[in-house]
Amino acid sequence: MNYTIELTNVTKVIRSKEIIKDISFSVSKGEVFGFLGPNGAGKTTVIRMLVNLIRPTGGTIRICGYDLNSDRKQAMNKIGAIIEQPELYSHMSGYSNLKHYANMNHTSITHERIMEIASVVNIEKSLRQKVKTYSLGMRQRLGLAQALLHKPDILILDEPTNGLDPNGIREFRKYIRHLAEEHGMTILISSHLLSEIELMCDRIGIIEHGKLIELKDLRAPSSLPNQKFRMKISDIKLASELLNTKGLLNKKVDSNVIELNIQEENMPEIIQELNAHHIKIYWAAPVTETLEEHYFSTLSASEGM
Ligand SMILES: Nc1ncnc2c1ncn2[C@@H]1O[C@H](COP(=O)(O)OP(=O)(O)O)[C@@H](O)[C@H]1O
Ligand SMILES: [Mg+2]
Repeated sequence: MNYTIELTNVTKVIRSKEIIKDISFSVSKGEVFGFLGPNGAGKTTVIRMLVNLIRPTGGTIRICGYDLNSDRKQAMNKIGAIIEQPELYSHMSGYSNLKHYANMNHTSITHERIMEIASVVNIEKSLRQKVKTYSLGMRQRLGLAQALLHKPDILILDEPTNGLDPNGIREFRKYIRHLAEEHGMTILISSHLLSEIELMCDRIGIIEHGKLIELKDLRAPSSLPNQKFRMKISDIKLASELLNTKGLLNKKVDSNVIELNIQEENMPEIIQELNAHHIKIYWAAPVTETLEEHYFSTLSASEGM
């Protein structure tokens, strides 16, 4: 199996409160996975378990096949992470920060490796400058360079775009896609910034009140079971009867507009059927749901459970 992060029935109880409730999901190699949810949902708690800052109360976590409980060292070797803010010393240069970070973590690091990683995150020109002269985006990239120094297979970032301006966010997104596509890195990013996640991630998991309430593939919209379509037609009543007898979900949204919940493949057949009954079709179009709409409809649906 090609999973690099695997959580199975993970729970976390803190002071007799169940903060994480039976979470299971996997992330494949080279995938950018967005971990999405409102504040207090449990994102940071899950991430702290993934990077071994705290232990799960129950369940197992595997990193590249290594059980975090029994093969901790091998597992941690595979991970680079930024939890909250990267640790940077502003009176030191970017270069010294990277060197210092490597020493602190008992990894011997060559000058070549520092230059190599600096070029990956596009910071080599500023490497000799003191970090206090860096923009927030540059600090973020230096933080990424730190996390990547020991060549991890997995990068884990907790709310990494917090505080970045729109341009910084766009740049950041570019590096993340680059790392995944060119370097085959597996990346897990938590965020509450929906639009950001939509552009950056291959797949998302939505967490609410410590429960994983949805896993969604963003790169395969056609794999969705049903899609919404609207049609403007001449006879809603008859059309609705025809669709109902076929068991196809539909509702009237305007005097001449009907909304269908169907697979795209069904559309030609439906159009033929309506034509056969002399129902005129003025137009038919898919209703596209933004990730934000999807996110809120998922959250509100689970509120009702
Ligand atoms: N050490 C702790 N002690 C008590 N409660 C905690 C602790 N850490 C997190 N929590 C609680 O767990 C829930 C999830 O927190 P967190 O994982 O930080 O959420 P998120 O990162 O999604 O905003 C929150 O209700 C928070 O108050
Ligand atoms: Mg958090």
